[in-house]
Amino acid sequence: MYAISMGRLTGKHILLGISGGIAAYKSPDLVRRLRDQGAEVRVVMTQGAGRMVSPTVFQAVSGHPVRRDLWDEQAEAAMGHIELARWANCVVIAPATAHVMALLASGLAPDLLTTLCLATTAPLVLAPAMNHAMWTHPATRDNRSVLAARGVRFVGPAEGAQACGETGPGRMSEPADIVAALVGLAEAADGALAGQRVLVTAGPTREPIDPVRFVSNRSSGKMGFAVAQAASEAGARVTLIAGPVHIATPPGVERLDVESAAEMYEATLARAARADIYIGAAAVSDYRPGRIADQKIKKKTETLDLHMVKCADVLAAVSALPRERPFTVGFAAETEKLEEHALDKLQRKGLDMIVANRVGANLGFDRDDNSAVLLWPGGREEVAQTSKVELARRIIAAIAARYVAAATGGASATGRSNAS
Ligand code: CTP
Repeated sequence: MYAISMGRLTGKHILLGISGGIAAYKSPDLVRRLRDQGAEVRVVMTQGAGRMVSPTVFQAVSGHPVRRDLWDEQAEAAMGHIELARWANCVVIAPATAHVMALLASGLAPDLLTTLCLATTAPLVLAPAMNHAMWTHPATRDNRSVLAARGVRFVGPAEGAQACGETGPGRMSEPADIVAALVGLAEAADGALAGQRVLVTAGPTREPIDPVRFVSNRSSGKMGFAVAQAASEAGARVTLIAGPVHIATPPGVERLDVESAAEMYEATLARAARADIYIGAAAVSDYRPGRIADQKIKKKTETLDLHMVKCADVLAAVSALPRERPFTVGFAAETEKLEEHALDKLQRKGLDMIVANRVGANLGFDRDDNSAVLLWPGGREEVAQTSKVELARRIIAAIAARYVAAATGGASATGRSNAS
């Protein structure tokens, strides 16, 4: 038997746009890596990009003439720009400058690259590269939100030393990371959750005591972010509602930041009925201070009593939605009697599945690995200690299998009546 090694992008047509950022010097390597994975690559450069790297370099590494001008009659005769837009399975702009992002966000098309972006129906992926002040400028932030809301995927930018000598977010992601994101996108197109809308909550919540203090918990958000990433890899359209955490948003995932349990409840319930699957991975506070002091509490007394009241249960509320209820998955972080407590939550909250994991000293919170038991009515699956990213992929695979079983009314379905 001979093993034939196929690239993970074999047969894919990738239109690579290069705009005028200094990071364009990394783009020939990106072309080479894409071709190594079997992709056919056509390069389109802006006028600015041509000042950074010679088009001859891209012609050599891509094996095709480079397009730079909308008004190039010879090139248009060979393959018109609309034809080129249709040819692409995916359009990637790396580097994407602040200027290109602004043009795309406004729907402007003054040159060939932006015209192609308007003309194509293929997914658009941007690898931004710019000075950190430009990246964090409110105008760029707004443009990013507009583009992300339209489904444009972002890879990076990374943080670190910049060409201008300063340090911060704005470096173009490494070509290997951009290729990995494109492979993920290609595989997602026929993934287990292709086209499904998945809503995920992650991280802790903070319950204010006074203007400067809060009650919270040790959740890092790593598990929930990994679940959002795995769902996106499986082809889902993912919205992630995150408590206060310091983790980068997985590529292609729409993110909404909240702080308190009440904010998480409101943001989730506003979206849950439109989701096909809800995964409550957040460590939502069970209790909050009954009264928030208007001013900072002074240490005048020897003891301080906080009167705590119960927070609304987001997961139970989603599960109890009367109509349009999504397939509902909860998490149970337990220090003892893992399966007993988790099964109790599964039944009490009327869930389709629960992910039970052990927490405590050196376990669970703020670590990169974990083990879990997945429980659903009438079934279970154990996942041994592994990275949270791998665990998340196993969780998503189990959810996809159960979701399909429920939607098609399979014999082992959960009894949920409206899974579609
Ligand atoms: N959860 C929620 N809203 C809350 C509290 C919890 O949505 N206010 C969700 C979590 O996101 C998680 C699951 O419920 O998916 C587990 O929560 P947990 O607090 O452990 O469950 P409880 O029912 O509060 O059980 P116990 O206090 O006995 O641990």
